[in-house]
Amino acid sequence: MTRKLLAPPPAGSDLKPIYGTGHPGVVEVLRFFRDPITMVAQRRAQFGDITYMNSFGLKFVIPLTPGGSEEIAINKKKAFANEPAWGFLIGPFFRRGIILMDFSEHRHHRRIMQEAFNPTHLKGYLQDMQPMLKDRVANLPVGDDVRMLKELKQVTLDLALEIFLGMDLPRAEADRINKAFIDCVDAGLSLIRKDIPGTKWARGLRGRKVLEDFFYEHLPAKRASVTPDLFSVLCHAKSEDGDTFTDEDVVNHMIFVLMAAHDTSTITLTTMVYYMAKHPEWQRRAREQSQGLPPDISYDTLDEFTVLDRIMKESLRLNSPVPGLPRRAIEDTEIDGHFVPKGTYVSAINLVNHHNPALWKDPEHFDPDRFSPERAEDKVHRYAWMPFGGGVHKCIGLYFAQMEIKTVMHNLLLRYEWSVPEDYVWKLDNSTLPVPKDRLPVRLRAL
Ligand code: HEM
Repeated sequence: MTRKLLAPPPAGSDLKPIYGTGHPGVVEVLRFFRDPITMVAQRRAQFGDITYMNSFGLKFVIPLTPGGSEEIAINKKKAFANEPAWGFLIGPFFRRGIILMDFSEHRHHRRIMQEAFNPTHLKGYLQDMQPMLKDRVANLPVGDDVRMLKELKQVTLDLALEIFLGMDLPRAEADRINKAFIDCVDAGLSLIRKDIPGTKWARGLRGRKVLEDFFYEHLPAKRASVTPDLFSVLCHAKSEDGDTFTDEDVVNHMIFVLMAAHDTSTITLTTMVYYMAKHPEWQRRAREQSQGLPPDISYDTLDEFTVLDRIMKESLRLNSPVPGLPRRAIEDTEIDGHFVPKGTYVSAINLVNHHNPALWKDPEHFDPDRFSPERAEDKVHRYAWMPFGGGVHKCIGLYFAQMEIKTVMHNLLLRYEWSVPEDYVWKLDNSTLPVPKDRLPVRLRAL
């Protein structure tokens, strides 16, 4: 078995070394794309609590325990920075987004942005999204081959345009913006990372330009009036100290937040639809609960969707939309007592913990009741379940996501029934964010 040292710990220190296979990056990345769960299990068997992996020509240290993930997320010694890691992956397309900021600058921007996600604004977004999502879900096509990833992506994009932008864009314009976002996201994790015509990277750069032009064009109108959408809220948001965003900040944050909100919710919804098709008893349970609750969801009834809540948590566990929390060590440091030299890339990878048999009973099995108060398997460690990350960069949109996901699913359950053939098993494309390769074909029929 090959075993290659990352870097020798400093002489005299009691820090332990980190090993990896030393396989070429392309081999490691392709193996990870093909079957990340098996790869992680093999690494754990071979290297124990921590390893490193070659990818994109870099070495990424990956802790294989929830404690190691926590150390990265909490970043107690401020030894890990976001910008050099996220910047490497998505920087050209999402530059100056909040996830690319660090330390005092990040704190400054986060405090202003937090205002857009306070309960008053969240209540407003939730109320506004009810009629819109009801209408969009009612207009889904029915049939034997409805590609749910594609349909749900359209729904979440329309929601983003309406709730975040407060604009009723013509279809062609909405599609143009949607395409620009998709191009930016796809470019981030592409293997060819140069502006060569025809590549994802080149399309991503063009997409970024489309988005910037679009937001700058509409910005003066948003500054001039106060409306309940996120675009306007960010234009007028003030931290407790009275700080506000510049025009450039608003544009950069809008581009990143829309991206952060859009694909993540789509993937969660698609995963829930998949597992509820594979497990019709759970679809029935969720539908029965929805039928007993009011057709519109309000801030006060959100917590009553306990079945959907467990299905959502289990879906986020089995297929986490954001695969990990990439960072770069800006000084010599350690994870779990192992030496991490300055300059090393590190990442807490969600599926490492989400599929760890030491943390979950029968982890590959879809079992939403593991999140019931009686079983509470997620409470075994604070980072056993970490789809929204942790620490200062923890997802700012986690309540928004919950509101959107529950509203879409509630409407879907009240209107339709869906199924997949009994032997159907989806195949995920892990080369960007994890999505079904075939876009999840289901038989969707109206109730
Ligand atoms: C199920 C849906 C979602 C998932 C799984 C998710 C996951 C995550 C994760 C893991 C992070 C932390 C990344 C890191 O630390 O490196 C994050 C950050 C972030 N998310 Fe989400 N997210 C979701 C939905 C949303 C929504 C709906 C919004 C906006 C409305 C949003 C906005 C953000 C922002 C702005 C950040 C960066 C926060 C910061 O750096 O301070 N997310 N998200």
